[in-house]
Amino acid sequence: MKKFIKPIVITMIGGVSILAFAQTPIYLDESKPLEERVQDALSRMSTSEKIGIIHAQSKFSSPGVQRLGIPEIWCTDGPHGIRPDVLWDEWEQAGATNDSCVAFPALTCLAATWNPEMSALYGKSIGEEARYRNKSVLLGPGVNIYRTPLNGRNFEYMGEDPYLTSQMVVPYIQGVQSNGVAACVKHYALNNQETHRDHVNVLVDDRTLHEIYLPGFKAAVKEGGAWSIMPGYNKYDGDHACENSVLLLDILKGDWGFDGVAISDWGAVHNTEKVAQNGLDMEFGSWTNGLNWGASNAYNNYYLAKPYEQAILEGKLPMSDLDDKAARVLRLIMRTAMDRNRPFGSINSEEHYAAARQIGGEGVVLLKNKNNILPLKKGQKVLVVGENALKMMTVGGGSSSLKAQREIVPLDGLKAAAENKEIEIAFERGYVGDTTGEYNGVTTGQNLQDSRSAEQLIADAVKAAKEADVVVFIGGLNKADHQDAEGTDRESFNLPYNQDKVIEALAAANPNTVVVNITGNAYAMPWKGKVAAIVQDWYIGSEAGNVLADVLFGDVNPSGKLPITFAASLTDYAAHASNDPEMFPGVNGDVTYKEGLDVGYRYTDKLKSSRINYPFGYGMSYTDFSLGKATLSSATLPESGEVTVTVPVTNTGDREGKEVVQVYVRDVKSSVARPNKELKAFRKVAVAPGETVNVELTLDRNAFAFYNDKTKQWEVEPGKFEILVGNSSANLTSRLPLNIPTSLTWKD
Ligand code: BGC
Repeated sequence: MKKFIKPIVITMIGGVSILAFAQTPIYLDESKPLEERVQDALSRMSTSEKIGIIHAQSKFSSPGVQRLGIPEIWCTDGPHGIRPDVLWDEWEQAGATNDSCVAFPALTCLAATWNPEMSALYGKSIGEEARYRNKSVLLGPGVNIYRTPLNGRNFEYMGEDPYLTSQMVVPYIQGVQSNGVAACVKHYALNNQETHRDHVNVLVDDRTLHEIYLPGFKAAVKEGGAWSIMPGYNKYDGDHACENSVLLLDILKGDWGFDGVAISDWGAVHNTEKVAQNGLDMEFGSWTNGLNWGASNAYNNYYLAKPYEQAILEGKLPMSDLDDKAARVLRLIMRTAMDRNRPFGSINSEEHYAAARQIGGEGVVLLKNKNNILPLKKGQKVLVVGENALKMMTVGGGSSSLKAQREIVPLDGLKAAAENKEIEIAFERGYVGDTTGEYNGVTTGQNLQDSRSAEQLIADAVKAAKEADVVVFIGGLNKADHQDAEGTDRESFNLPYNQDKVIEALAAANPNTVVVNITGNAYAMPWKGKVAAIVQDWYIGSEAGNVLADVLFGDVNPSGKLPITFAASLTDYAAHASNDPEMFPGVNGDVTYKEGLDVGYRYTDKLKSSRINYPFGYGMSYTDFSLGKATLSSATLPESGEVTVTVPVTNTGDREGKEVVQVYVRDVKSSVARPNKELKAFRKVAVAPGETVNVELTLDRNAFAFYNDKTKQWEVEPGKFEILVGNSSANLTSRLPLNIPTSLTWKD
């Protein structure tokens, strides 16, 4: 470790200067323990310098301490690529020419890979891009649970299951932070809808909070070691998340021992006294244009700026809270901008494009493939229909919008790949949806206007469909308001713009109709039985077209599994089951999660199978797998609290593929109501044709526990459990009894 020793002249004796060497201050000495450095820096700072570092100085930065050589912090969205730079004080583009990026697949796609290695690759790659752009904090990933398919922001999250989310978020964070860039996990907590997001007050029971909505955040903090977290806009139990002592002090900093920085969502702070005392550390984005209040410098008037300083000077608020906040921010700066050993990063590299393509390829989910219509075959005439074949999706959707260096749209990807495959590709529009292509001053430059009537568009597509060997419809949602976009929720579970009608017409004209939907959400499929194949594509980013071509032409064997339940209708999601506005979108400011634990498959497990189009964990391959009989390392849970499940997976088809073994746990009898089964382990394996791989998965005590809201402890009750093994939540091939002899309890 280098030490900076500065020679200084200390005195003159008889005309001779004596040189002495001043020791590097502790806070600059990277060989010293982090906490010592933090405390040393803090001890040198004035109250106003401490105040200075805990709030914004611009839209995305905070100032550091110039006098001490402590650098600024720059934040960036997140979570799918590095956002283009905006002006100092406004949301408009800064007009930089070096701020384009690789757009990585949306987090729903990452979750659909069911592969933590993909998550590590994602985190490392996006972290390198953030580092290259000199950002200290990446505002992502998002881990809010998929409570309703109407949530416009689901595409930024990792699905409906707390265990899957927890497993996938940890490597992402570690990958990002290996670059000396902090991940900022968002939006803590219960930000599960966009309607009234600024003030909606979530009422949820403690057990559901701890079992469903918090595990992703807990894993991010305790296992991922996240250096920052973003409390959201909404309220929980009467207080805004940024001012919520239960969420921030009791749980995050108390139970989980979080030593990082709680960074407010942009403009999510409302009250100096509360925010100062209830655990938020840094304020960003108040008064959206940064200048509405306190004309000469709005930043000084932030809740955690002058008003806070004043209250401390007047003795109304204690210095100790400010010291804690400032220490946390210093820790963050030392972990990031002050870490002289962090790598330099890289941007728009071929490695990053390759990573985006690989992750995307593992996330696409094949839902139906009648008569093996896919992959497409040599010599076929293929008609592509649908707006999403053309539309760039990296622009729009809110703060995750990007300025991608390049984005291959599906039609271009398919055409390019078809060239050397003797496959002919023609295109018909089919419908017109959203023709805009602008977000915050970044434009796609695409002209998607089409003046034909809806009837004419269908008639033209049908005519061409009759002449094709295969029709590939590429539709779904997009990033416009009320679709998959921040700030608004969807208004219907059906696909928009008449797409159901277009699909029905195509299927009637040509039985070889393949439907590819690009969405971050589930939707109704009234045409499910009439089409030959269904592919769930997601927002894949820069490599969208290449990834889709890889899968449709069979260069990549699909291995994605649904991270969300595709139920038949909106009312098959518990939050909507009784059409109760108190449950969604809320009444008089409150939204009540009356469904409790019944989220996703935990609810649909109780319904007739006809209510589910495609279950959680489901996804097909171009090869076939068979799961052999699973075994348990012990029929009784040993004192260690761990058992191992072993299951042989055989590839019975004729090409290499990847299968995801899923282990669900069922508590046969319990003193509290428990879901029918819950995902507690999974593993993705590559298996060659004819090969059998023995997959081992370990279950620890967490797999059997529920949260006891009376004792506020995790608890395993003795008795009978079942270990269910399969390759989707609805295809369980082994059912193994496990006896748990004694009860176990522990605190977070
Ligand atoms: C979003 C955050 C985002 C922030 C900064 C907010 O509106 O909710 O997710 O990181 O803006 O752009």
